[in-house]
Amino acid sequence: MTIRYVAAIDQGTTSSRCIIFDQDGAVVAVDQREHRQIFPRPGWVEHDASEIWTTVQAVVAGALDRAGLRADRLTALGITNQRETTVLWDRATGLPVHHAIVWQDTRTADLCHELGGTDGQDRFRATTGLPLASYFSGPKAAWLLDHVPGLRERAERGEIAFGTMDSWLIWNLTGGTAGGVHVTDVTNASRTMLMDLETLRWDPAVLAAMNIPEAVLPEIRSSSEVYGTAVGALAGVPVASALGDQQAAVFGQACYDPGTAKNTYGTGSFLLLNTGNRPVPSKNGLITTLGYRIGDEPPVYCLEGSIAITGALVQWFRDQLGIIGNAAEIETLAASVEDNGGAYIVPAFSGLFAPYWRSDARGVITGLTGYVTKAHLARAVLEATSWQTREVVDAMYQDSGVPITTLKVDGGMTANHLLMQHQADVLGVPVIRPKIAETTCLGAAYAAGLATGVWSGLDELKTHWQRDVEWQPRMEPEDREREYGNWRKAVERSFGWQE
Ligand code: G3P
Repeated sequence: MTIRYVAAIDQGTTSSRCIIFDQDGAVVAVDQREHRQIFPRPGWVEHDASEIWTTVQAVVAGALDRAGLRADRLTALGITNQRETTVLWDRATGLPVHHAIVWQDTRTADLCHELGGTDGQDRFRATTGLPLASYFSGPKAAWLLDHVPGLRERAERGEIAFGTMDSWLIWNLTGGTAGGVHVTDVTNASRTMLMDLETLRWDPAVLAAMNIPEAVLPEIRSSSEVYGTAVGALAGVPVASALGDQQAAVFGQACYDPGTAKNTYGTGSFLLLNTGNRPVPSKNGLITTLGYRIGDEPPVYCLEGSIAITGALVQWFRDQLGIIGNAAEIETLAASVEDNGGAYIVPAFSGLFAPYWRSDARGVITGLTGYVTKAHLARAVLEATSWQTREVVDAMYQDSGVPITTLKVDGGMTANHLLMQHQADVLGVPVIRPKIAETTCLGAAYAAGLATGVWSGLDELKTHWQRDVEWQPRMEPEDREREYGNWRKAVERSFGWQE
């Protein structure tokens, strides 16, 4: 029998990768390339969408090459992407009209504050599941329409297209100016703050409030269906899935049953709990978001705890402070001391997301004494990830009443045993990593393969999931609570800073 292959593109915050999977869900080949991070001012982060498209084409070619496969051997191609990052392009030339505004960018903080008016930050929460925060794409699009000369008029004439990276890639993959399709999936649409969570349509009242012409918006489709056929190097391959990267990880981790949850440790960390076919509103600082939708089946919703900065703090420790030479060294340095020496680092580089949603928060280091060394700070860097995760796990319990009994984890930082042990310690539950840790790409491949008959359904996909490592909690409860108290004091110190 001929083996079938599915390719997935993961267009992430710092790099793009392509992984080719076989029909057993095993990784056949990987290619990955970074793209530039553009920081025009403090708090602003941009990407060049054209550079990203070039990079994506290169990693697809690279992965096929490493697999020794021609493109016509791919049964389907799936897309997963950094969410919220916003690009507007000219439909006639296919060129972006401005750099993409990245999800971490805080330039829309004032706009979000104004949009809240007398209703405040939760003005659109009931409809969209989201608080008004600079994180989401709708206000980023509004900012571009207001600041690029002449853009609003062109947008109103239907000349401009809006997209998150899924839309941008699908448009280009399926032909761009020569007939590309302009679509997004429900998961990415749910991060714009423009979609009604129940109807899965763009909400006219929110669009009017943000002054966004509907003519710029893509069509909202499911996460698993054939949107179109690729042209160019991938000619003939069905483009058959799109999911925001965190939702793709939910799918790749086989969190298909209500009550199952995963945490992905990347630039930031994102903990998603499957809540079934109904959106669950949050009262404790989480967001309500789409988990996935397979074709015409009912959509699946999630509660999400979004943490902006986790892995990015390790990068900062390496690149901006130069204390370590590579990311892996942090574990050795942190393991050279027994604890954090009293130091805590709150990495509020883009304000703080869940559960606080404070754009006035900035990073702080607390607990400094002459005793603290770079090794203690290395610990504090890692512990910032586990304490922030503890905060969103607590909020999830308060919202859902369902305690998390184990946590499925994935992403680059799960290679760090010291961090994963601390994570189990501060949560007081086992932390489990699956054999295939590439869950983001895997989820996009699964969704594309489901749409093209490679796999029969979720039950078959569940059988692929296998446990690799499990970390058991070891910390004494009183130590955990004392340290958590210190962490929360440090968080309070991060609030209220002015530009
Ligand atoms: O919401 C932002 C998230 O999708 C970014 O993920 O993995 O690119 O840091 P990542």
